[in-house]
Amino acid sequence: MTHRFRSPILLAATVLLAGAMSFAEDGSAIYKSKCAMCHGSTGTPNPAMAQSMGIKPVTDPAIKALTADQIASTVKSGKGKMHPVAGLTDAQVKDVAAYFKTLK
Ligand code: HEC
Repeated sequence: MTHRFRSPILLAATVLLAGAMSFAEDGSAIYKSKCAMCHGSTGTPNPAMAQSMGIKPVTDPAIKALTADQIASTVKSGKGKMHPVAGLTDAQVKDVAAYFKTLK
């Protein structure tokens, strides 16, 4: 009797957990394939890149102050020397922007 009631709850919990995990993984996977070559794997570009292209590290106050929406619009439309990043769906842009916010 009890397991008839418990299993749908377990199933729902598993689905929720898997959903939360895939969200986090997507953002970091997209970052690694689409952003890390310029911004560095941890959000701090290598010194040559930082200097030649003017990329600020995520520890910079101006970068910390950006909202996820502002980051998403930079990814979609580009900004200054950064060109728009091609090949991402709106959902992927949101995921990678959210991931960018978690870098320290
Ligand atoms: C080809 C190199 C390159 C790639 C790839 C790249 N960026 Fe950038 N990014 C730059 C440069 C250069 C700047 C500095 C732009 C400026 O201020 O002129 C920048 C700036 C930014 C900024 C700061 C914008 C601001 O308001 O000052 C954010 C946020 C950002 N990038 C996020 C990302 C994310 C997220 C990705 C991946 C989806 C990404 N970038 C991919 C080169 C790149």
